[in-house]
Amino acid sequence: MCGIVAYIGSKNAPNVLIDGLTKLEYRGYDSAGIAVINKDKIDVYRSVGKLINLKNMLDEKKPVSNIGIGHTRWATHGKPSYENAHPHSSFGISLVHNGIIENYLDIKRNLADKGYKFESETDTEVIAHLIHSNYKDDIFEAVKVSVKQIKGSFALAVISVNEPDKIILARHDSPLVIGISDGENFAASDIPALISYTNKFIFLEENDIAILTKNSVTCYDFEGKKTDREVKIVDINPVMAEKAGYRHFMQKEIFEQPRAIIDTIRGKYSLENGELLLDELKSIDIKKYRRVNIVACGTSWHAGLVGKFYIEKFAKIPVEVDIASEYRYRDTIIDEETLFIAISQSGETADTIAAMRLAKSRGAGILSICNVIGSTIPRESDATFFTHAGPEIGVASTKAFTTQVIALLMLALYFAQEKQTLNHVEIRNILTEIVKLPEKMEEALKLDSHIEEMAKDFKSFPSFLYLGRNVNYPIALEGALKLKEISYIHAEGYPAGEMKHGPIALIDKNMPVFIIATDSKVYDKVLANIQEVKARDGIVIATVTEGNKDVEKFTEYCIKLPAAVEELSVFLNSIVIQLLAYHISAELGLDVDQPRNLAKSVTVE
Ligand code: M6R
Repeated sequence: MCGIVAYIGSKNAPNVLIDGLTKLEYRGYDSAGIAVINKDKIDVYRSVGKLINLKNMLDEKKPVSNIGIGHTRWATHGKPSYENAHPHSSFGISLVHNGIIENYLDIKRNLADKGYKFESETDTEVIAHLIHSNYKDDIFEAVKVSVKQIKGSFALAVISVNEPDKIILARHDSPLVIGISDGENFAASDIPALISYTNKFIFLEENDIAILTKNSVTCYDFEGKKTDREVKIVDINPVMAEKAGYRHFMQKEIFEQPRAIIDTIRGKYSLENGELLLDELKSIDIKKYRRVNIVACGTSWHAGLVGKFYIEKFAKIPVEVDIASEYRYRDTIIDEETLFIAISQSGETADTIAAMRLAKSRGAGILSICNVIGSTIPRESDATFFTHAGPEIGVASTKAFTTQVIALLMLALYFAQEKQTLNHVEIRNILTEIVKLPEKMEEALKLDSHIEEMAKDFKSFPSFLYLGRNVNYPIALEGALKLKEISYIHAEGYPAGEMKHGPIALIDKNMPVFIIATDSKVYDKVLANIQEVKARDGIVIATVTEGNKDVEKFTEYCIKLPAAVEELSVFLNSIVIQLLAYHISAELGLDVDQPRNLAKSVTVE
């Protein structure tokens, strides 16, 4: 949901801003802009559409400045247009904003009464005029007064032509990180925007305002009291945020999965002792909890559905899995005996944050699974299991998903160990299978060209059905979501056993049905489902375990995966559904990494 970036130092600010925005484009890509201080005025450059349009404009105009702010937009208030693109300005003050201002209409009316004119439909322009209306001779003071008058969520970067040696930052419910270097400082919505310049970061906290000059960073709370914010060293290799020879980020991220799984479980177990070593979870006494609520959105919700199987099977704790936007508005039963698990790649999803805060207010223990260090969800959790997927740039989640699933499996085994529902031999047996998993995933990835060929046959179908059972049912949901979001092809995921309760009516010769039929305790049932589809002329695409001879009798589209225990088959099946969606989208010539209407991180409700 919008990316912001700011720079002050001795480099040419427009170059740094464009570079940062390129890394943030996954957050929104319907328009972009920068503002730089140029002697006694602020020059604003904005353009509609992808960042490349702004880049081309700047290549032509060649602005020069050592201080500036930039923005890439995902529209909330007002359609994508030149007028609505950020930065927004008011008489020598310019700002960029990520978030939503809820009381902007009231403020707008007041400001209009004072004579301010509005050129856009955005809530952001209102903040620019509000700051100007509060400005006497100190931009920090004007921002400080203004943030108390606005309601909603915001990360702001503000510059004033009268004070060309500073940038003012403010955060409330939207992420903002400061990058620190010698004689120059940066700010951005997310670390990848800055990682090629520095590895030293300050993660601004709720209700922080900061003054950034080229040689200093000073943080305050909204009352103006100085706050100490720790400088953290973050070790992300800048190359992880590059395509590294792949055609798309999504393709690269699919192929990174075996490595991401290894990084996520590294140091967290002893195979020899059949033991989980999750020191980061020491503050969570699992024996205290009678139930687990897993809450997330989108793909992270699908990971949560797999997690339910693991936790109930191994740790024998009842688990409910909820979509965050539903959980927060129903009369959910939450108390001190509830362990709430928030799953979020970004750690900034607004609905998941709100659900987490609700659970916290009712006394639940808060555990999170997150991929972004310093983001809101881990910061507000009692304990966090960090996935080590590395930056995920493609909007469609791939490696974030499988690392969340492995984190949930490790968590389930840890709970089982603490509750003694599994003994060390049983845990060792499962760990032995987990250790072999990355190699099996590498094998599955070798199916890439086979799946690419298949994609050519399927790119023109208007609708797909995805079926799976048991632990692979959430993978069917994920398969349908992947196809929808990057190929714009309608798809539905269903538990295979539910097919005859409705969706079977859709099946005819024009309906491809992707069926997960790898070895499992429900394999025979799935085989029966395949026959039911064939009996109605549906086209079956199926994943099976190597050596399977049954399914190829029913379809030429049979994808053979390495043998794995049922709990781990989800990882191999995930690779297939991801590759199929990827190749169909690429075959259709669509924008795989930045599909229409979507943004990587949904920081608004
Ligand atoms: O950052 P989060 O994991 O909280 O994001 C949740 C969803 O927005 C996200 O998984 C979304 O569904 C993905 N684009 C799916 O590929």
